Amino acid sequence: MRNIVEVRELRYVYEDGTEALKKIDFELEAGETVALLGANGSGKTTFALHLNGILRATSGSVVIDGIAMSDKTLAEIRRRVGLVFQDSDNQLFMPTVLEDVAFGPLASGKSPEEAAEKANAALTQVGMAHKAGKAPWHLSAGEKKRVAIAGILAGDPKLLVLDEPTTFLDPPGQRGLADLLESLPQAKLLITHDVPFAQRLTERGVFFEAGAIAAKDRIPAIVERFGW
Ligand SMILES: Nc1ncnc2c1ncn2[C@@H]1O[C@H](COP(=O)(O)OP(=O)(O)OP(=O)(O)O)[C@@H](O)[C@H]1O
Ligand SMILES: [Mg+2]
Repeated sequence: MRNIVEVRELRYVYEDGTEALKKIDFELEAGETVALLGANGSGKTTFALHLNGILRATSGSVVIDGIAMSDKTLAEIRRRVGLVFQDSDNQLFMPTVLEDVAFGPLASGKSPEEAAEKANAALTQVGMAHKAGKAPWHLSAGEKKRVAIAGILAGDPKLLVLDEPTTFLDPPGQRGLADLLESLPQAKLLITHDVPFAQRLTERGVFFEAGAIAAKDRIPAIVERFGW
């Protein structure tokens, strides 16, 4: 099976000289779920931002679904990779939930009717169809997270990248999110500090340490080795 993500010798230096990623080699198969674990500041978010080209490698390569990241392929890659930010308030900005979720399909050239259809289907998938007419900022944290995920799903991505999706969610909200993610067929990269959440959704974890991958292993093995 073709890998949905292939990253080779990825290095990234921020403008202030911080070397946030040193030499990352990473691959993910279509449909596979992997957890990214590691200390604050170890480079997980920086890595995630390379997968849809928000950040571009200082050196090394990022290939998504067989397409090498470049200025020319950026739009194509963004259609394949949906990034869900830690804080949903950075993702939701339209007057109603429905308009918010329809925004992506509209921007990619769908007719208003098609975009609304896509948005309604995605809202149904995440269990939020009954909130379609509400203002996004009046939703609870867990509801916002679901709507943000619906906005991503409406674009039919092949890969979902979720940066600390359980932050701000209460335990039932976390379980509900795990149920939802389990029901989605896409490949998933879960950045999380929540070990039980990681363990429930995937066998395989990658442990980041100071901008490098220190281990790729089963979650329990990582927990034991790094005292996580
Ligand atoms: N815009 C920026 N400019 C300069 N340095 C940055 C910037 N963003 C992040 N960094 C630095 O890059 C390194 C990696 O940060 P990153 O946010 O990727 O870590 P993380 O593993 O996601 O951490 P956390 O678990 O706290 O979310 C840190 O040293 C951080 O200070
Ligand atoms: Mg982070």
